[in-house]
Amino acid sequence: MSDVMQSNKFQSIEVPNRFALAPMTRTSAEPDGTPNALMADHYEGYARGGFGLVITEGTYTDDKASQGYAYQPGIIDDAQVAGWQTIVNRVHAAGSKIFVQLMHAGAQFQANRYTNQPVGPSEVMPKGAPLGFYGDQEAWQTPAAMTEADIHAAIDGFAKSATNAKAAGFDGIEIHGANGYLLNQFLSTHFNKRDDNYGGSLENRLRLVVEVVRAVRKAVGDNYPVGIRLSQGTVTDPDYQLPEGEAGFRRIVEAVRDAGADFVHTTDGDVNRPYFVEGNQSLASVAAAVDGIELIINGNIDETNYQDVANQFPNAILAVGKKALANPDFVQRLKDGKEIADIDFAMLQPKATITNELAWRGQNAA
Ligand SMILES: Cc1cc2nc3c(=O)[nH]c(=O)nc-3n(C[C@H](O)[C@H](O)[C@H](O)COP(=O)(O)O)c2cc1C
Repeated sequence: MSDVMQSNKFQSIEVPNRFALAPMTRTSAEPDGTPNALMADHYEGYARGGFGLVITEGTYTDDKASQGYAYQPGIIDDAQVAGWQTIVNRVHAAGSKIFVQLMHAGAQFQANRYTNQPVGPSEVMPKGAPLGFYGDQEAWQTPAAMTEADIHAAIDGFAKSATNAKAAGFDGIEIHGANGYLLNQFLSTHFNKRDDNYGGSLENRLRLVVEVVRAVRKAVGDNYPVGIRLSQGTVTDPDYQLPEGEAGFRRIVEAVRDAGADFVHTTDGDVNRPYFVEGNQSLASVAAAVDGIELIINGNIDETNYQDVANQFPNAILAVGKKALANPDFVQRLKDGKEIADIDFAMLQPKATITNELAWRGQNAA
């Protein structure tokens, strides 16, 4: 068996193999954001299916504007923490590790039980339309430009949620800095039109990201895995590129490392896509060249290319999304040499809920 199936030391934890379940929002929590038994079965299923590391869906971090979707889980109150604790225990009992993804929606805001007003770096809406499989909203709302007080409250939310995650027993924390959510918006010249310390130059656009990483690190202490997911593109603008190119992305990786991140998780439509305003490197290859930080990589990893990707990025964890949805036992299937199915997006219709997935599985059972 290839070494991708061997246990691997990832920061301070031992993972049973180098496959991770990519974070995937399923809008299946209780209306008050409490993770429930359905979610516990769901996440345990991926652990039983062989994924050495499970990364949860984006989980909101405060009772202000961080929630982006109805039925999204949070990690801000006792009931939510208890719900996650059950999930953590179930995944551990199945032999896998689990990280929580902490997410602030920013301008990519479709539903929130605490406020109707989205916030973002500037009064700029995302491109395109809201995501139909997360809710019925037809148009984005204009976000309010965050004040310094809003920024400090958002940082505080990440820090408190990190403390809660550690208390719930999670093995590590992934901060969501990708895909057009709040932290990615600050990095983006589409969203960020600020003329204060948080806008303009890359160093200024990086400031909030760095402050969040530092605050999370401070909250959980040393020897606890903390990292950040990074992309250029967003869910509605997958080809957005940083004007600073490869050098800019390298700078972001170095800055989060220096702020206390142990790993970055790069995500793109394809792990090997050359994808900068200049040069021919992928996100993953730029990040891999930075010393002193570990890597999770994502983007179209499947049964045909995983070995090449694993060889190209020794020690990196490979995060799998769509192939995992189609095959919750993807890793076990690889081990057994069994057939791997392609995703049928009907399983996420009309909404990307676990209930709809189970109904689809019932209808499509042989
Ligand atoms: C239904 C669905 C929900 C997703 N939710 C999240 C999320 O909560 N957080 C995140 O960082 N990425 C999310 N993603 C993106 C995936 O983590 C992954 O980056 C993407 O599917 C590409 O990887 P793949 O080619 O292996 O599928 C989601 C993707 C899908 C299909």
